[in-house]
Amino acid sequence: MSADPQIQNGPLDQLDQWDDFVASRYREGKDQSEFRVYDEQATPGVAEFYRLNHTHQTLDFVLAKEKEYCGLTRGKRTPWDALEYLNTLVDDSDPDTDLSQIEHLMQTSEAIRADGHPRWMVLAGFVHDLGKVLCLYGEPQWAVVGDTFPVGCAFSDQIVFHKYFAHNPDTKSPEYQTLHGIYEPNCGLEKVHMSWGHDEYIYHVTRDYLPEPAHYMLRYHSFYPAHRHGAYRHLMSAHDEKMFDWVNTFNPYDLYSKGAAKPDVKALRPYYEDLMAEFFPAELAW
Ligand SMILES: [Fe+2]
Ligand SMILES: [Fe+2]
Repeated sequence: MSADPQIQNGPLDQLDQWDDFVASRYREGKDQSEFRVYDEQATPGVAEFYRLNHTHQTLDFVLAKEKEYCGLTRGKRTPWDALEYLNTLVDDSDPDTDLSQIEHLMQTSEAIRADGHPRWMVLAGFVHDLGKVLCLYGEPQWAVVGDTFPVGCAFSDQIVFHKYFAHNPDTKSPEYQTLHGIYEPNCGLEKVHMSWGHDEYIYHVTRDYLPEPAHYMLRYHSFYPAHRHGAYRHLMSAHDEKMFDWVNTFNPYDLYSKGAAKPDVKALRPYYEDLMAEFFPAELAW
């Protein structure tokens, strides 16, 4: 297992470039008329990232990754060790201009805490991107970050860079290209296989210890086609709809807390150690 930051090489300069792209897409206060079409010229690294993501996220790929990771057989780590491990993703060459992974997580959770939300939600904010350790296991960027979407059914035109799905082998399979594909109408997202990434992984690592609204926040925080664009309602149950209120409540903290002052990680650490001890066992299975 390597902690070499180089392992996340290309096409994004670093993993956070995707997060920044999403934040700029949904900039606070931006109205609908400001949304522009993204293309290869404007954001070449990001476009190439989506081309790879949309080409390779097939149902078979997702099923294989679920089998590989969802059994949590990669050993145990304390939650804080996992944070420090994730922090090795940071590009040390320019420490002043970019937030470390821990800092992004803490800005998110501190903003949630400042608004008086429950402690489990503060914790969900603090761990929401820990699934990015997938990158350190050697997974390519396109299988770690990116807007998520169901596989095994038609790809919604609300997914950014939709045109790249033309290269996805599943588009050649008629069974996967109907509106519902392999799923029953309104079967509920629990039955739906989502494109593989850090959301699904951290959901599995933490699901036994957090309440259901946190499951939704973690598992669907990158499901922008649904929570920002209203897509895939035909697969969601009434219960999913209700739970998506929590996903919507969570999303602005993820997107818009980055402008805040850098959190004092050292000073805040005792609070977060206590918070993690309240919900998690000493070690989590990864
Ligand atoms: Fe994320
Ligand atoms: Fe995030």
